[in-house]
Amino acid sequence: MATTAAAMMRVRRDVWKMSKAGSWDPDLLWYAKAVEAMKKRPLDDPLGWRYQAAIHEYRRASDPFSNPTDLLPSQSDQDDFWGQCQHGSWYFLPWHRMYLLHFERIVADTVVQLGGPADWALPYWNYSDKSNPDAMKLPPEFIAATLPNGTANALSIPQRAAVQPDGDFGLTALEVDIKGCLDEDEFEDSAIGTSSGFGGEKTGFVHNGAYPGVLEITPHGDVHGAVGGLGGFMGRFSTAALDPIFWLHHANIDRLWQVWRDRNAKHLDPVDTDWLTPVGIKFSFHDALGNVVIHAPTDVADTSVALLSYRYEDVSDPFPAALAAGALVGGGSTVPKANQPAEMVGATAAVALGAAPVTASIALSKPSGPVSLAAGGDPLRVYLNFENITAKQVTGGYVVYVEPAGDALTHKGLVAGTLPMFGVVEATSRQSPHGGSGLSYALDITEIVNAMESKHQWDPNNLRVRVEPIREAPSNSGLKIGRISVFYR
Ligand code: C2O
Repeated sequence: MATTAAAMMRVRRDVWKMSKAGSWDPDLLWYAKAVEAMKKRPLDDPLGWRYQAAIHEYRRASDPFSNPTDLLPSQSDQDDFWGQCQHGSWYFLPWHRMYLLHFERIVADTVVQLGGPADWALPYWNYSDKSNPDAMKLPPEFIAATLPNGTANALSIPQRAAVQPDGDFGLTALEVDIKGCLDEDEFEDSAIGTSSGFGGEKTGFVHNGAYPGVLEITPHGDVHGAVGGLGGFMGRFSTAALDPIFWLHHANIDRLWQVWRDRNAKHLDPVDTDWLTPVGIKFSFHDALGNVVIHAPTDVADTSVALLSYRYEDVSDPFPAALAAGALVGGGSTVPKANQPAEMVGATAAVALGAAPVTASIALSKPSGPVSLAAGGDPLRVYLNFENITAKQVTGGYVVYVEPAGDALTHKGLVAGTLPMFGVVEATSRQSPHGGSGLSYALDITEIVNAMESKHQWDPNNLRVRVEPIREAPSNSGLKIGRISVFYR
């Protein structure tokens, strides 16, 4: 059985194309049944639902299913297999791909055990699909209380943001805007003060690293925060993978890696051996037979190899026009992304965030080096950094506006991006590995600055920024940004 499964090419389908009003697609029904079966397996069973979620992170104190009869895996097994997720790192994409792969095979094996077909594949949730008016909603199979036979539906869980009967839970177009990530030309960019590229900055093994890549911020982090709300599973590392939608969200993130690579001949995975075959880093999992497997990113870079054997139903580029026109793709990429350090030209003091919008006015100075201004006095690239964001409790995401000079402060300004708060509590906690310094984000605002300049709304001495909650945000989360800084490059 295992060998046939390995040779077969699985097709990961778009969940919204599987979802037809009133009738369940067999693969979604099998998913529900397999989740139910996996939930019955004990905490220390690598093929069980709770163990699979613990691979992402496990906290006994906040385990919603904690039970006195639980047997925990040995400490060394916990060290090797649990709390492994790679965030704020160039390993974000390959690690989650490995994680999904084995999860998919465990579900598929469970489906076979339950009498289902051999070719079950993990669906993906394309919330950014502009051709589908329902894209940003939860598919009906994930909110229906029961399966067609009247038994409880394991895909529907109460630990989410409030969901309307039609699946709307308030996810906004801003949070699923993938133009920004797809326009990143580099997979990784580790220069201080700049965005971290499509896939994240170069790091060692990090559970919650400093600067996530653009894809990891939007849509990845935003979707987590929106589905999880203020107390749901998707909002925290330790519970995220207990929500069955987590896996469809990550299948889409994994799919976007392929979309990005196909988009432009310049879009390449790292060639650095520290990424391909890192020395001293073990990404360990259990396969569907329960055997330990260890992978390096190079093993999973191509989904058509025997180990992976899957493809996505649709990896077409949602913004192909720029390519057809022969234009360079990239946020302001008529400007070369100079391979030089960036320089800070202004910063605020600490900024507290709560339920109300906050406006900051940042005095800018001329760079004194290493960055020099181009002819005409313009920086090549401008980045807005939100450094060391910390919070004591889960809170919602924020949207950042840059306000053109001359506009009233009440004007909403131009959207610079979002600040999702997925992982903020973990990144704040000094107890968690690499924790304590909080989340940090760098948003590329070059295009916005160019647009303001062309309208004579750019003030080289001052930048006004407005940060406001995307949806409900508690006033007492203790949310604080260490500083907001502006870097030129
Ligand atoms: Cu490791 Cu979406 O999370």
